[in-house]
Amino acid sequence: MCGIVAYIGPREAYPVIMKGLKRLEYRGYDSAGVALLEKDLRVYKKQGRVAALEESIIGQDLHAHTGIGHTRWATHGEPSDRNAHPHLSASGRLAMIHNGIIENYTQLKKELTKKGYSFKSDTDTEVLLNFIEDIQENNNCSLEESLRIALKRVTGAYVIVLLDRNHPDTIIAARKGSPLVIGIGKGEHFLASDASPIIEYTKEVVYVNDYELAIIKCDELILKNLGNEKITPFVQKLDLELTAIEKGGYEHFMLKEIFEQPETIFDCLRGRLDVTKGTITMAGVQNNIDKLTNAKRIIIVACGTSWHAGLIAEYIIEEICRIPVEVEYASEFRYRNPVINHGDVIFAISQSGETADTIVAIEKAKEQGAFIFGIVNVVGSSIARISHAGAYTHAGPEIGVASTKAFTAQMVVLIMIALKIAYEKQTLTEDRYIQLLTELQAIPEKVKELLRTSEHIRNLALKYKNVKDALYLGRGNNFPVALEGALKLKEISYIHAEGYPAAEMKHGPIALVDENLPVIFSAPKSFYHEKLVSNIQEIKARKGKVLAVISEGDEVIEKMADDIMTVPLADELISPLLSVIPLQLFACYLGMAKGYDVDKPRNLAKSVTVE
Ligand code: M6R
Repeated sequence: MCGIVAYIGPREAYPVIMKGLKRLEYRGYDSAGVALLEKDLRVYKKQGRVAALEESIIGQDLHAHTGIGHTRWATHGEPSDRNAHPHLSASGRLAMIHNGIIENYTQLKKELTKKGYSFKSDTDTEVLLNFIEDIQENNNCSLEESLRIALKRVTGAYVIVLLDRNHPDTIIAARKGSPLVIGIGKGEHFLASDASPIIEYTKEVVYVNDYELAIIKCDELILKNLGNEKITPFVQKLDLELTAIEKGGYEHFMLKEIFEQPETIFDCLRGRLDVTKGTITMAGVQNNIDKLTNAKRIIIVACGTSWHAGLIAEYIIEEICRIPVEVEYASEFRYRNPVINHGDVIFAISQSGETADTIVAIEKAKEQGAFIFGIVNVVGSSIARISHAGAYTHAGPEIGVASTKAFTAQMVVLIMIALKIAYEKQTLTEDRYIQLLTELQAIPEKVKELLRTSEHIRNLALKYKNVKDALYLGRGNNFPVALEGALKLKEISYIHAEGYPAAEMKHGPIALVDENLPVIFSAPKSFYHEKLVSNIQEIKARKGKVLAVISEGDEVIEKMADDIMTVPLADELISPLLSVIPLQLFACYLGMAKGYDVDKPRNLAKSVTVE
């Protein structure tokens, strides 16, 4: 989704903004632009990559100490130079960038058109900007005041950042529903959609909240609400290093993030899991243990890969905690007037913590009195802040658009929560509890071991690179792994893929099977082994190609399958932590083999901050 960077201070704004925009490229975008304000206001924008923008303005006057920059992920209007941000107001006095959607922009546009306004772009942003300018001109008030009035009329989500040619010493910003971080330097301020453009300049940041306005000068940051009351900024220290957002020798962030999983899983367990003491320490869980153990039902809301983590958690929680679980797409949940009863607990899972649908789903459930437990990766993100309690996944920044290390970290956190609840509820024997803790502790080493087979997986990706479709199958808690494997392949290699529970195959998808269709099984050792063997036989009998993820030593499936990817043996309950990784690698290598930019798959955004 759109990325926002702004700077005010003694440095040259342009290089700070361009570097920041490059750090936000991972969010997904199709055009980029910058507005620089010194004595005059200059806007440069271009469809395509940030590098294309840079190239197109070589030789222009880029000197300024105040500026705003934007990467646009098209919503209203096609990707083009004229729809790119920043937009200029009708008078040319104001420049604005925006992340979000102004839902009632058609109505506002009608009103403005009647007053004689015309528009250079198809965007909702230009409409809002002229609406603000119109209010200012008619009411003879400050830009800040006109913004406040305008926002009271606006429905939708936004972060907007404004420059006024007549006030080069000030940037004005506002937020509702989309993220905005302000970095505080010495006599300078940095604004961005997330901390990655800010981290190399300062670690002191303020996360702007919904319905807040920020008036920013070099050495002053004023926060106000829409009622014009001042709010004391809550300054936080970033716990993030620059190296975490760089590629560290890997060709792609996605590859780096897949290979980081032994460390990210270890980090997620560190300080929480103690096998010798037989304990799991998670403050968010401990402080709310009664609510969690007495939950009548757990409703998991999430999107995409996080939703798949939720499906896996459903199997685990029901199995060991004996609490009914429902897993909901946040986008569906938010609109269907869900029944929430006393004693229901909502688990909201999100890597970014900024997914618009998940945020609204939480808000809806909160209104109905549900207790919200957030499982989030990005520290300080919106979901982390609006949840009643929660646990961070500590996977570090995930830059690749396709979620990989965040997914395994989500599973680890969910497994620990389930174990903790089961222990407290005594729905698990002491022996089984300790056995699972021990198994979990061994996972980082096992991931390391399986990553040693990456060359083999790369060769398989080359072998299968020209397939047109793929079917992914799994059973039990490896069914969501099949869904995740299919999602990764679609996202990264643009190959059509579907995930199914293996037994459902006979109810439809088997019609697709012929010698051209690879059927990819997630089949580590489990209770379902024999059943999966039968399913594989059914595929082979129809000349389908079988590629199977199996546990080491599984000679039965090894003999039947055309190709295999092996993972170390692990307890069935936590086996998805291993079985998903070869599928991540397979998709990544396949996308690379096809020459695609696996970090920035077409049409996708890292965090989906609009509905
Ligand atoms: O940040 P979130 O976990 O809330 O994001 C949810 C989905 O948008 C995300 O998982 C998406 O499906 C990824 N592209 C998957 O690789």
